[in-house]
Amino acid sequence: MRITIAALLSSLLGLASSAPPAPAWRFVEKGNSGIVALESIVVSPTLAVFFDRATNDPLHTANGKVAWGALWNMETNTATPLKLVSDTFCASGSILSNGTMVSVGGQIPAPEDVNNTGAVDGRMGLRLFGPCTDAAGVGPGCTVFEDLETLHLAETRWYPSSVRIFDGSLMIIGGIHEETKFYNTDPVNSFEFFPPKDGGVPRPSAFLQRSLPVNLFPRAFSLPDGKVFMLANNQTIIYDIEAKTETILPDLPNGQRVSNPFDGTITMLPLSPPLFTPEVLACGGSTKSDTTPVEQLSSQDPATSQCARLTVTPAGIARGWQVEHMPQGRMMPEMILLPNGQVLITNGGLTGYAAVNSIGKTTGNSNADHPVSTPILYSPDAAVGKRMSQEGLPTTNIARMYHSTASLTPQGNILLAGSNPNDNVTVVPPGQPGFSSELRVETLDPPFMSMARPVLSNVPSKIAFNQRFNINIDIPAGVSTSSIKVALMDLGFSSHAFHSSERLVFMDAVLAPNKRSLSIMSPPNNRVYPPGPAFIFVTVGDTTSVGAHVMVGSGANPPVADQGVRI
Ligand SMILES: *[C@@H]1O[C@H](CO)[C@@H](O)[C@H](O)[C@H]1NC(C)=O
Ligand SMILES: *[C@@H]1O[C@H](CO)[C@@H](O)[C@H](O)[C@H]1NC(C)=O
Ligand SMILES: *[C@@H]1O[C@H](CO)[C@@H](O)[C@H](O)[C@H]1NC(C)=O
Ligand SMILES: *[C@@H]1O[C@H](CO)[C@@H](O)[C@H](O)[C@H]1NC(C)=O
Repeated sequence: MRITIAALLSSLLGLASSAPPAPAWRFVEKGNSGIVALESIVVSPTLAVFFDRATNDPLHTANGKVAWGALWNMETNTATPLKLVSDTFCASGSILSNGTMVSVGGQIPAPEDVNNTGAVDGRMGLRLFGPCTDAAGVGPGCTVFEDLETLHLAETRWYPSSVRIFDGSLMIIGGIHEETKFYNTDPVNSFEFFPPKDGGVPRPSAFLQRSLPVNLFPRAFSLPDGKVFMLANNQTIIYDIEAKTETILPDLPNGQRVSNPFDGTITMLPLSPPLFTPEVLACGGSTKSDTTPVEQLSSQDPATSQCARLTVTPAGIARGWQVEHMPQGRMMPEMILLPNGQVLITNGGLTGYAAVNSIGKTTGNSNADHPVSTPILYSPDAAVGKRMSQEGLPTTNIARMYHSTASLTPQGNILLAGSNPNDNVTVVPPGQPGFSSELRVETLDPPFMSMARPVLSNVPSKIAFNQRFNINIDIPAGVSTSSIKVALMDLGFSSHAFHSSERLVFMDAVLAPNKRSLSIMSPPNNRVYPPGPAFIFVTVGDTTSVGAHVMVGSGANPPVADQGVRI
């Protein structure tokens, strides 16, 4: 009798003789985000922060107001409201050298949204979160600190971007002052920093002036020498923060434009020792002229399939952009660096533009159409023409259009959330054109999620620059150890088809003869990996470990002094 009950129980619980799923890429639905996750950032091994605009999201805070921020628990797949003061709509952010996440910029809330949310003007917003060390996100550090009287930007910035730099501060780039309908017609052509430099006076930028009017969410990376690579519209520069100079690099070829509202995306490919040679890859967006009147733009205009790749060294710049093509055009794609060095390209539509209800011909409220439902894997080291593949990648029926996000998680899968090409949380009735606001969260799970994986232990919680350290590793039986990759990663802040501060630095590692430990060399200095939190992933053969959370550098408040050795 007991056996029968046990068997009944286990079959009710779905445990009966269920063979593990065969290893394959899979989309898996993971619950409801409570707010539209139009910005997302992983802030701890178990938690991500989501932001939306202050509007009519279903999630409410304890005081009964509508929430526009949420803490997403990746273990329980549940959203908890975050209490905010100002409107975070179309903002950016990153994590500082001391582990505090900073959200920057935002908008003036719409009058009809003020009553329900209580939100105030967020354009000068600086919101601090964490470090939050509680796995469930309860307790000190797990709430947002905001006080606009004492803590705010120098300029009003809507649609800015940001990047963590070599001293662990945040560089904040561009944006609009006030709401403009589509193109940037009210630009903030300057950079500023948090904590402030230059006595808080923003630095004017000729590059931002030159790249109008398609230069919202300018794309920027900290290069391994501490300078900053930037892309806006079809133009690129290297900005030297210390010398305050802009060096003009070649334009993107063939008319490709990548920043908002012609959103393509760009990533810096993994950096590898000993030289950490930086290469950037810009994919998708549009080849439409940036002087096209908005009335002539259509949600049916094809996005470009072009990817342009540049080695950011004098020789690489002299050689210029190398052109490749995705299997299809993409507007608003996201690029996710994977711990094995591949790049996943996901989200977006085949046609149209970013933004909502602001061009000649829309699809419902959406400026874009034809969601692309199958991701692409890009292998940076493969031969040209053999780098892009959709083989074995699954298809989702959830459209991830404007205001959608994607991020690698500490588990090694990809968290997908958001999508809302509407002015507020909107359900589009079946048969009507357009796209409903999306609250369904998904993960895209790599094949190794259903395989035995390497397990890391004794990982130090803090690692210094240019230092050898040891970790223990338990490698599953039968997994070949001929290829071992150790990735140090910042998972980035996802907003508007760009991951601020996303970064992968490979570290040289030696496996002990007994195959139970790795001796790893940390990055040479704070320019190769701007000081701050990271996850260490180890990929053995085709399987990747869960990421171990570490602090790289001292964990001190920014700005921190140079550390390690120059290369
Ligand atoms: C403001 O919201 C409250 C409920 O939170 C509602 O009772 C009131 O009618 C609203 N006022 C306006 C002007 O919309
Ligand atoms: C980049 O865009 C500008 C402004 O539209 C244009 O004048 C320039 O020719 C473009 N560059 C290339 C290489 O197409
Ligand atoms: C949502 O937006 C639509 C169109 O702008 C507007 O008519 C409606 O009142 C808004 N609803 C809410 C709840 O804000
Ligand atoms: C991290 O540094 C920033 C900038 O100095 C500061 O505002 C913040 O309070 C610091 N975080 C912690 C936890 O001390």
